Amino acid sequence: MMLFSRNNNKLAPGIEEKIKKYRRMGCTVPTRKMIKNEEQIAGIRESSKINTGVLDHVAQHIKAGMSTEDVNTLVHEYTLAHGAIPAPLNYEGFPKSVCVSINEEVCHGIPSKDVILRDGDIVNVDVSTIYNGYFSDASRMFLIGDVSPERRRLVDVTRECLELGIEAARPWGFLGDIGEAIQEYAESNGYSVVREFCGHGVGIEFHERPEVEHVGRRGTGMLLVPGMIFTIEPMINMGKPGIFIDEENGWTVITEDEKPSAQWENTILITEAGVERLTW
Ligand code: MF3
Ligand code: CO
Repeated sequence: MMLFSRNNNKLAPGIEEKIKKYRRMGCTVPTRKMIKNEEQIAGIRESSKINTGVLDHVAQHIKAGMSTEDVNTLVHEYTLAHGAIPAPLNYEGFPKSVCVSINEEVCHGIPSKDVILRDGDIVNVDVSTIYNGYFSDASRMFLIGDVSPERRRLVDVTRECLELGIEAARPWGFLGDIGEAIQEYAESNGYSVVREFCGHGVGIEFHERPEVEHVGRRGTGMLLVPGMIFTIEPMINMGKPGIFIDEENGWTVITEDEKPSAQWENTILITEAGVERLTW
C-alpha cells in the first residue's frame, strides 16, 4: 500500500537521524519545509531552466541606448512565451517584471523608459521566474560598452564572491561557511558587503527561510541538509557598506556614498554529494 505520495516531505531515514544528531549537539537545523522532495526539486529545476533562458536572452540583446523599460520588455515577453510568469510583477507591489539596477543602485531598480543604458555602465539584471507554480531566481551583471578597469574589477570580484560562496556550500556544512567565504574575499579586495539584503530559500515561494547572509563565521548558522534550495546573491560595494532606499519609489536600494555596487545571484540545491547549481 502507498502510504506516502511522491510529493510528501518524508525524509530518508538516514537524513532524519543525522539531523536529530546535529540538533542534539545544539545546531540550528532546517525545518521540514526547507527540505524539498524529488517532485519539488524537479519543478524548481524546470523553472530555473527558463530563468537561465531569460538571462541568456537579455545577454544577447542588452546594449547602450536601450532603456531599462526595454530590458523589462525582453524579460516579460520571453517569460510569457515560455509559459512562465515573471515573479517580480506585482510582488509586494513591485510594478515591473524584472529588477534592473545601474552603477550605484544596489538592487531593486525599477525599469523605466526614462532610464537609458550608457557606455561605461555596469548593470544588474535580476530575473525571477514562476513556472508550474515553482520559483527560481538569478541575476547577472552586464557591462555596457567600454567600462573602466575599476568597475570591471568590482564586477569580477563580485562574481568570484558568488563562486566562492557556492564552493563553500556542502551537505552537513553550515550557512556561515558561505558567509565567511564571501565576506573574506570581498573585504580582502578592499570592498564591502551589504548587510541589509540576503539570499533566501526559494522554490515553493519567492522568498522562503532561511536567510542566507553574505557575511559570517565558518561552522556557525543553520545546518545545510540535502534537499535545501536557496539563493546566494552577494551585493558588494566599491566603497562603504551603507545603503538607503529611494524615497520616491520606495524600492530602489542605493549606496549611501553613491559609489558603484555589483551583484550576482544563483539558485542552488544541496545534494548528498555536494551542490547542484540550478541557475546560471
Ligand atoms: N529578485 C530579488 C531577489 O533576488 C527580489 C526582488 S523583489 C522585487 O531576491 F519585487 F523587487 F522583484
Ligand atoms: Co533572490
